[in-house]
Amino acid sequence: MSSFDFLGSEQTIFSNPDALDPDFIPKLLPHRENEQQFVATAIKPLFHGRTGISLIVSGPSGIGKTVSVKRVVMDLEEHEEADNIAKLNINCWKANTTYKVLSEIATQLGLRFIQNLKTNELINKVISRLEQYDGVVIVLDEIDKADDTDFLYHILENIKKRTIILLTNEPNINAQLDYRIISRLTPETLEFKEYTASETFDILKERLKYAFYQDTWSSEAFAELSKVASGYKDIRVGITLLKITGELAEQDSSKKVTLEHVKEATKRVSTLKPAAVNKTFKDEEKLVLDICERSSGKTTGELFKKYSKAGGEKSEKTFKRTLDSLKRKGLIKLKPTGEGFQGRSSIIEYLGPEKKITDF
Ligand SMILES: Nc1ncnc2c1ncn2[C@@H]1O[C@H](COP(=O)(O)OP(=O)(O)O)[C@@H](O)[C@H]1O
Ligand SMILES: [Mg+2]
Repeated sequence: MSSFDFLGSEQTIFSNPDALDPDFIPKLLPHRENEQQFVATAIKPLFHGRTGISLIVSGPSGIGKTVSVKRVVMDLEEHEEADNIAKLNINCWKANTTYKVLSEIATQLGLRFIQNLKTNELINKVISRLEQYDGVVIVLDEIDKADDTDFLYHILENIKKRTIILLTNEPNINAQLDYRIISRLTPETLEFKEYTASETFDILKERLKYAFYQDTWSSEAFAELSKVASGYKDIRVGITLLKITGELAEQDSSKKVTLEHVKEATKRVSTLKPAAVNKTFKDEEKLVLDICERSSGKTTGELFKKYSKAGGEKSEKTFKRTLDSLKRKGLIKLKPTGEGFQGRSSIIEYLGPEKKITDF
Protein backbone atom coordinates (compact mmCIF):
# COMPACT_ATOMS: atom_id res chain seq x y z
CA MET A 1 0.00 0.00 0.00
CA SER A 2 1.48 3.37 -0.92
CA SER A 3 1.33 6.17 1.60
CA PHE A 4 -1.29 7.89 -0.57
CA ASP A 5 -3.70 5.10 0.26
CA PHE A 6 -4.14 6.37 3.78
CA LEU A 7 -7.38 7.94 4.73
CA GLY A 8 -7.23 11.40 6.27
CA SER A 9 -8.91 11.74 9.66
CA GLU A 10 -11.81 13.68 8.11
CA GLN A 11 -12.21 11.30 5.19
CA THR A 12 -14.49 8.34 4.90
CA ILE A 13 -15.03 5.48 2.48
CA PHE A 14 -18.79 5.47 3.10
CA SER A 15 -20.69 7.67 0.68
CA ASN A 16 -24.00 6.83 2.37
CA PRO A 17 -23.77 4.71 5.54
CA ASP A 18 -27.58 4.81 5.93
CA ALA A 19 -27.80 2.43 2.99
CA LEU A 20 -26.54 -0.28 5.34
CA ASP A 21 -29.23 0.31 7.96
CA PRO A 22 -31.70 -2.52 8.53
CA ASP A 23 -34.60 -0.20 7.62
CA PHE A 24 -33.15 1.08 4.37
CA ILE A 25 -35.44 0.37 1.44
CA PRO A 26 -33.67 0.51 -1.92
CA LYS A 27 -35.61 1.75 -4.92
CA LEU A 28 -34.73 -1.32 -6.95
CA LEU A 29 -34.55 -4.84 -5.61
CA PRO A 30 -32.58 -7.07 -7.94
CA HIS A 31 -34.06 -10.56 -8.42
CA ARG A 32 -37.35 -9.72 -6.77
CA GLU A 33 -38.97 -8.09 -9.79
CA ASN A 34 -41.41 -10.96 -10.36
CA GLU A 35 -42.44 -11.19 -6.74
CA GLN A 36 -43.03 -7.44 -6.62
CA GLN A 37 -45.09 -7.67 -9.78
CA PHE A 38 -47.20 -10.39 -8.18
CA VAL A 39 -47.87 -8.18 -5.17
CA ALA A 40 -48.70 -5.19 -7.36
CA THR A 41 -51.18 -7.28 -9.33
CA ALA A 42 -52.91 -8.24 -6.10
CA ILE A 43 -53.38 -4.58 -5.17
CA LYS A 44 -54.34 -3.23 -8.56
CA PRO A 45 -58.06 -4.14 -8.57
CA LEU A 46 -58.45 -1.57 -5.77
CA PHE A 47 -57.57 1.15 -8.29
CA HIS A 48 -60.78 0.32 -10.13
CA GLY A 49 -63.06 0.07 -7.15
CA ARG A 50 -62.92 -3.70 -7.02
CA THR A 51 -61.73 -5.88 -4.20
CA GLY A 52 -58.07 -6.90 -4.22
CA ILE A 53 -56.45 -10.28 -3.95
CA SER A 54 -55.13 -11.35 -0.57
CA LEU A 55 -51.77 -13.02 -0.30
CA ILE A 56 -49.76 -15.23 1.96
CA VAL A 57 -46.11 -14.50 1.35
CA SER A 58 -43.85 -17.18 2.77
CA GLY A 59 -40.21 -18.19 2.82
CA PRO A 60 -37.24 -18.33 5.20
CA SER A 61 -35.88 -15.15 6.75
CA GLY A 62 -33.48 -12.72 5.17
CA ILE A 63 -34.58 -13.18 1.57
CA GLY A 64 -36.40 -9.94 0.93
CA LYS A 65 -40.04 -10.63 1.79
CA THR A 66 -40.48 -7.58 3.99
CA VAL A 67 -38.52 -5.21 1.80
CA SER A 68 -40.20 -6.31 -1.43
CA VAL A 69 -43.72 -5.83 -0.12
CA LYS A 70 -42.81 -2.52 1.57
CA ARG A 71 -41.34 -1.22 -1.66
CA VAL A 72 -44.47 -2.04 -3.65
CA VAL A 73 -46.69 -0.32 -1.09
CA MET A 74 -44.38 2.72 -1.01
CA ASP A 75 -44.50 2.91 -4.79
CA LEU A 76 -48.28 3.31 -4.56
CA GLU A 77 -47.59 6.90 -3.53
CA GLU A 78 -46.66 7.59 -7.12
CA HIS A 79 -50.09 6.52 -8.40
CA GLU A 80 -52.94 8.98 -8.30
CA GLU A 81 -55.42 6.11 -8.39
CA ALA A 82 -54.07 5.05 -5.00
CA ASP A 83 -54.54 8.44 -3.33
CA ASN A 84 -57.59 7.33 -1.41
CA ILE A 85 -56.31 3.89 -0.58
CA ALA A 86 -55.24 3.28 3.03
CA LYS A 87 -51.77 1.76 3.29
CA LEU A 88 -51.07 0.02 6.55
CA ASN A 89 -48.05 -1.97 7.65
CA ILE A 90 -48.07 -3.84 10.93
CA ASN A 91 -45.36 -6.02 12.38
CA CYS A 92 -47.16 -8.71 14.37
CA TRP A 93 -44.04 -9.55 16.33
CA LYS A 94 -44.15 -6.10 17.88
CA ALA A 95 -47.93 -5.79 17.88
CA ASN A 96 -48.84 -9.35 18.79
CA THR A 97 -52.37 -9.00 20.16
CA THR A 98 -55.63 -7.79 18.65
CA TYR A 99 -55.56 -4.71 20.86
CA LYS A 100 -51.99 -3.81 19.91
CA VAL A 101 -52.61 -4.33 16.21
CA LEU A 102 -55.72 -2.16 16.29
CA SER A 103 -53.91 0.56 18.23
CA GLU A 104 -51.13 0.48 15.68
CA ILE A 105 -53.62 0.72 12.80
CA ALA A 106 -55.39 3.59 14.55
CA THR A 107 -52.09 5.41 14.96
CA GLN A 108 -51.18 4.88 11.31
CA LEU A 109 -54.59 6.22 10.32
CA GLY A 110 -53.96 9.31 12.42
CA LEU A 111 -56.84 8.60 14.81
CA ARG A 112 -56.59 10.42 18.10
CA PHE A 113 -57.89 9.90 21.62
CA ILE A 114 -57.66 6.14 21.44
CA GLN A 115 -55.70 5.48 24.64
CA ASN A 116 -58.58 4.62 26.91
CA LEU A 117 -60.79 2.76 24.48
CA LYS A 118 -61.89 -0.82 25.05
CA THR A 119 -61.13 -3.33 22.32
CA ASN A 120 -64.67 -3.15 20.93
CA GLU A 121 -64.68 0.61 20.79
CA LEU A 122 -61.31 0.58 19.11
CA ILE A 123 -62.55 -1.90 16.50
CA ASN A 124 -65.53 0.30 15.69
CA LYS A 125 -63.42 3.40 15.43
CA VAL A 126 -60.86 1.75 13.15
CA ILE A 127 -63.49 0.14 10.94
CA SER A 128 -65.48 3.32 10.45
CA ARG A 129 -62.32 5.18 9.49
CA LEU A 130 -61.31 2.44 7.04
CA GLU A 131 -64.76 2.58 5.45
CA GLN A 132 -64.01 6.12 4.31
CA TYR A 133 -61.33 4.89 1.94
CA ASP A 134 -61.86 3.54 -1.58
CA GLY A 135 -59.71 0.56 -0.68
CA VAL A 136 -57.39 -0.75 2.01
CA VAL A 137 -54.00 -2.43 1.78
CA ILE A 138 -52.92 -4.09 5.00
CA VAL A 139 -49.55 -5.76 5.31
CA LEU A 140 -49.26 -7.99 8.34
CA ASP A 141 -45.62 -8.87 8.66
CA GLU A 142 -44.49 -11.83 10.78
CA ILE A 143 -48.09 -12.94 11.15
CA ASP A 144 -46.79 -16.26 12.50
CA LYS A 145 -45.69 -14.36 15.63
CA ALA A 146 -49.15 -12.96 16.43
CA ASP A 147 -50.63 -14.33 19.65
CA ASP A 148 -54.16 -13.78 18.39
CA THR A 149 -55.58 -12.85 15.03
CA ASP A 150 -59.14 -11.85 15.94
CA PHE A 151 -58.51 -8.37 14.56
CA LEU A 152 -58.24 -9.95 11.14
CA TYR A 153 -61.70 -11.43 11.43
CA HIS A 154 -63.19 -8.02 12.15
CA ILE A 155 -61.44 -6.44 9.22
CA LEU A 156 -62.48 -9.22 6.86
CA GLU A 157 -66.08 -9.00 7.98
CA ASN A 158 -66.34 -5.25 7.55
CA ILE A 159 -63.94 -4.08 4.89
CA LYS A 160 -64.69 -5.45 1.46
CA LYS A 161 -62.34 -3.52 -0.83
CA ARG A 162 -59.09 -4.81 0.51
CA THR A 163 -55.81 -6.50 -0.21
CA ILE A 164 -54.46 -8.23 2.86
CA ILE A 165 -50.90 -9.46 2.69
CA LEU A 166 -49.67 -11.85 5.34
CA LEU A 167 -45.92 -12.40 5.60
CA THR A 168 -44.62 -15.47 7.34
CA ASN A 169 -41.47 -17.53 7.87
CA GLU A 170 -43.60 -20.54 8.72
CA PRO A 171 -44.66 -22.46 5.64
CA ASN A 172 -47.92 -23.80 7.06
CA ILE A 173 -49.43 -20.63 8.44
CA ASN A 174 -52.88 -21.77 7.28
CA ALA A 175 -52.90 -24.29 10.10
CA GLN A 176 -52.27 -21.49 12.61
CA LEU A 177 -55.13 -19.35 11.38
CA ASP A 178 -58.72 -19.76 12.40
CA TYR A 179 -60.99 -21.36 9.80
CA ARG A 180 -63.27 -18.33 9.99
CA ILE A 181 -60.36 -16.22 8.84
CA ILE A 182 -59.03 -18.45 6.08
CA SER A 183 -62.46 -18.98 4.57
CA ARG A 184 -63.00 -15.23 4.33
CA LEU A 185 -59.47 -14.39 3.25
CA THR A 186 -59.19 -16.95 0.40
CA PRO A 187 -55.56 -16.01 -0.12
CA GLU A 188 -53.23 -16.81 -2.96
CA THR A 189 -49.74 -17.84 -1.97
CA LEU A 190 -46.47 -16.34 -3.06
CA GLU A 191 -43.43 -18.29 -2.04
CA PHE A 192 -40.06 -16.59 -1.88
CA LYS A 193 -37.11 -18.84 -2.66
CA GLU A 194 -33.62 -18.47 -1.23
CA TYR A 195 -31.22 -16.45 -3.35
CA THR A 196 -28.54 -18.29 -5.30
CA ALA A 197 -24.88 -17.37 -4.84
CA SER A 198 -24.89 -15.23 -7.96
CA GLU A 199 -28.10 -13.44 -6.95
CA THR A 200 -26.55 -12.73 -3.54
CA PHE A 201 -23.53 -11.33 -5.36
CA ASP A 202 -25.68 -8.96 -7.47
CA ILE A 203 -27.75 -7.74 -4.53
CA LEU A 204 -24.76 -7.00 -2.32
CA LYS A 205 -22.85 -5.41 -5.19
CA GLU A 206 -25.75 -3.06 -5.72
CA ARG A 207 -25.89 -2.22 -2.02
CA LEU A 208 -22.17 -1.61 -1.98
CA LYS A 209 -22.63 1.01 -4.69
CA TYR A 210 -25.25 2.79 -2.60
CA ALA A 211 -23.09 2.81 0.52
CA PHE A 212 -19.44 3.24 -0.50
CA TYR A 213 -17.45 5.58 -2.69
CA GLN A 214 -16.30 4.20 -6.00
CA ASP A 215 -13.14 2.11 -6.11
CA THR A 216 -12.99 1.59 -2.37
CA TRP A 217 -13.41 -2.18 -2.70
CA SER A 218 -11.06 -4.59 -4.40
CA SER A 219 -12.94 -7.16 -6.44
CA GLU A 220 -11.26 -9.98 -4.57
CA ALA A 221 -12.43 -8.56 -1.22
CA PHE A 222 -15.99 -8.25 -2.47
CA ALA A 223 -15.99 -11.73 -4.01
CA GLU A 224 -14.94 -13.18 -0.68
CA LEU A 225 -17.62 -11.26 1.20
CA SER A 226 -20.29 -12.37 -1.22
CA LYS A 227 -19.21 -15.99 -0.86
CA VAL A 228 -19.37 -15.87 2.93
CA ALA A 229 -22.72 -14.07 2.88
CA SER A 230 -24.18 -16.62 0.51
CA GLY A 231 -23.32 -19.40 2.95
CA TYR A 232 -25.58 -17.77 5.53
CA LYS A 233 -28.51 -17.66 3.10
CA ASP A 234 -29.55 -14.36 4.61
CA ILE A 235 -28.91 -11.01 2.90
CA ARG A 236 -28.95 -9.33 6.28
CA VAL A 237 -25.67 -11.04 7.13
CA GLY A 238 -24.17 -9.78 3.87
CA ILE A 239 -25.19 -6.21 4.64
CA THR A 240 -23.83 -6.51 8.17
CA LEU A 241 -20.57 -7.78 6.73
CA LEU A 242 -20.37 -4.82 4.35
CA LYS A 243 -20.80 -2.48 7.28
CA ILE A 244 -18.29 -4.12 9.61
CA THR A 245 -15.74 -4.55 6.86
CA GLY A 246 -15.98 -0.88 5.94
CA GLU A 247 -15.58 0.15 9.56
CA LEU A 248 -12.50 -2.06 9.94
CA ALA A 249 -10.93 -0.52 6.85
CA GLU A 250 -11.56 2.94 8.27
CA GLN A 251 -10.05 1.97 11.60
CA ASP A 252 -6.94 1.06 9.62
CA SER A 253 -7.12 4.45 7.90
CA SER A 254 -7.16 2.52 4.67
CA LYS A 255 -8.72 3.97 1.54
CA LYS A 256 -9.30 0.48 0.25
CA VAL A 257 -11.19 -2.42 1.69
CA THR A 258 -8.96 -5.48 1.56
CA LEU A 259 -9.39 -9.22 1.78
CA GLU A 260 -7.97 -9.08 5.31
CA HIS A 261 -10.70 -6.69 6.42
CA VAL A 262 -13.32 -9.06 5.04
CA LYS A 263 -11.74 -11.99 6.85
CA GLU A 264 -11.69 -10.12 10.14
CA ALA A 265 -15.32 -9.06 9.68
CA THR A 266 -16.26 -12.65 8.86
CA LYS A 267 -14.76 -13.74 12.18
CA ARG A 268 -16.86 -11.18 14.00
CA VAL A 269 -20.13 -12.25 12.44
CA SER A 270 -19.37 -15.91 13.01
CA THR A 271 -20.90 -15.53 16.47
CA LEU A 272 -24.20 -15.20 14.63
CA LYS A 273 -26.12 -18.35 14.26
CA PRO A 274 -25.71 -19.38 10.63
CA ALA A 275 -28.84 -20.24 8.71
CA ALA A 276 -27.43 -23.73 8.29
CA VAL A 277 -27.72 -24.30 12.04
CA ASN A 278 -31.18 -22.82 11.96
CA LYS A 279 -32.23 -25.26 9.32
CA THR A 280 -31.17 -28.40 11.13
CA PHE A 281 -33.48 -27.15 13.83
CA LYS A 282 -36.74 -28.97 13.96
CA ASP A 283 -39.82 -26.78 13.59
CA GLU A 284 -40.88 -27.81 17.05
CA GLU A 285 -37.63 -26.58 18.59
CA LYS A 286 -37.90 -23.35 16.67
CA LEU A 287 -41.38 -22.74 17.98
CA VAL A 288 -40.33 -23.46 21.57
CA LEU A 289 -37.20 -21.33 21.27
CA ASP A 290 -39.25 -18.45 19.88
CA ILE A 291 -41.47 -18.62 22.91
CA CYS A 292 -38.48 -18.76 25.27
CA GLU A 293 -37.06 -15.67 23.63
CA ARG A 294 -40.25 -13.70 23.94
CA SER A 295 -41.01 -14.83 27.48
CA SER A 296 -37.56 -15.07 29.02
CA GLY A 297 -37.82 -15.03 32.81
CA LYS A 298 -41.13 -16.90 32.96
CA THR A 299 -41.72 -20.37 34.40
CA THR A 300 -42.08 -23.61 32.44
CA GLY A 301 -45.81 -23.71 33.19
CA GLU A 302 -46.39 -20.20 31.89
CA LEU A 303 -44.36 -20.96 28.81
CA PHE A 304 -46.30 -24.12 28.12
CA LYS A 305 -49.54 -22.11 28.13
CA LYS A 306 -48.05 -19.71 25.60
CA TYR A 307 -46.82 -22.61 23.53
CA SER A 308 -50.29 -24.18 23.36
CA LYS A 309 -51.79 -20.82 22.47
CA ALA A 310 -49.27 -20.35 19.68
CA GLY A 311 -50.45 -23.59 18.10
CA GLY A 312 -48.07 -26.02 19.83
CA GLU A 313 -49.69 -29.42 19.87
CA LYS A 314 -47.32 -31.53 21.94
CA SER A 315 -47.92 -32.58 25.54
CA GLU A 316 -46.32 -30.78 28.45
CA LYS A 317 -43.90 -33.68 28.82
CA THR A 318 -42.71 -33.42 25.23
CA PHE A 319 -42.53 -29.67 25.65
CA LYS A 320 -40.19 -30.12 28.62
CA ARG A 321 -38.04 -32.52 26.63
CA THR A 322 -37.70 -29.89 23.93
CA LEU A 323 -36.66 -27.40 26.60
CA ASP A 324 -34.00 -29.84 27.77
CA SER A 325 -32.71 -30.19 24.26
CA LEU A 326 -32.50 -26.40 23.84
CA LYS A 327 -30.66 -26.27 27.15
CA ARG A 328 -28.12 -28.82 25.92
CA LYS A 329 -27.56 -26.69 22.85
CA GLY A 330 -26.78 -23.75 25.13
CA LEU A 331 -29.69 -21.69 23.87
CA ILE A 332 -31.59 -21.43 27.13
CA LYS A 333 -30.94 -21.81 30.86
CA LEU A 334 -33.30 -23.54 33.28
CA LYS A 335 -33.31 -22.37 36.89
CA PRO A 336 -35.36 -24.57 39.23
CA THR A 337 -37.83 -22.59 41.34
CA GLY A 338 -38.34 -25.38 43.87
CA GLU A 339 -42.08 -25.07 43.29
CA GLY A 340 -44.55 -26.83 41.09
CA PHE A 341 -45.17 -30.51 40.65
CA GLN A 342 -42.36 -32.46 42.40
CA GLY A 343 -40.38 -29.22 42.47
CA ARG A 344 -39.82 -29.43 38.75
CA SER A 345 -40.91 -25.97 37.73
CA SER A 346 -38.09 -23.85 36.36
CA ILE A 347 -37.56 -20.33 35.24
CA ILE A 348 -36.41 -20.14 31.66
CA GLU A 349 -33.75 -17.72 30.66
CA TYR A 350 -33.23 -17.19 26.95
CA LEU A 351 -29.58 -17.11 25.89
CA GLY A 352 -29.98 -17.57 22.16
CA PRO A 353 -27.19 -17.04 19.72
CA GLU A 354 -24.48 -14.87 21.23
CA LYS A 355 -25.29 -11.90 19.11
CA LYS A 356 -28.06 -10.90 16.82
CA ILE A 357 -27.52 -9.22 13.50
CA THR A 358 -29.38 -6.20 14.78
CA ASP A 359 -26.78 -5.78 17.54
CA PHE A 360 -24.26 -4.45 15.07
N1 LIG B 1 -33.40 -8.23 -3.70
C1 LIG B 1 -32.90 -7.43 -2.75
N2 LIG B 1 -32.29 -6.27 -3.07
C2 LIG B 1 -31.80 -5.45 -2.11
N3 LIG B 1 -31.84 -5.71 -0.81
C3 LIG B 1 -32.42 -6.85 -0.41
C4 LIG B 1 -32.98 -7.76 -1.35
N4 LIG B 1 -33.48 -8.81 -0.66
C5 LIG B 1 -33.26 -8.57 0.63
N5 LIG B 1 -32.61 -7.40 0.80
C6 LIG B 1 -32.18 -6.81 2.07
O1 LIG B 1 -31.89 -7.89 2.96
C7 LIG B 1 -32.37 -7.64 4.27
C8 LIG B 1 -33.37 -8.71 4.65
O2 LIG B 1 -34.53 -8.60 3.85
P1 LIG B 1 -35.98 -8.72 4.46
O3 LIG B 1 -36.94 -8.19 3.47
O4 LIG B 1 -36.01 -8.11 5.80
O5 LIG B 1 -36.09 -10.30 4.57
P2 LIG B 1 -37.28 -11.21 5.11
O6 LIG B 1 -38.47 -10.33 5.34
O7 LIG B 1 -37.47 -12.23 4.05
O8 LIG B 1 -36.76 -11.80 6.38
C9 LIG B 1 -32.97 -6.25 4.24
O9 LIG B 1 -31.98 -5.34 4.71
C10 LIG B 1 -33.26 -6.02 2.77
O10 LIG B 1 -33.18 -4.65 2.45
MG1 LIG C 1 -39.32 -9.94 7.20
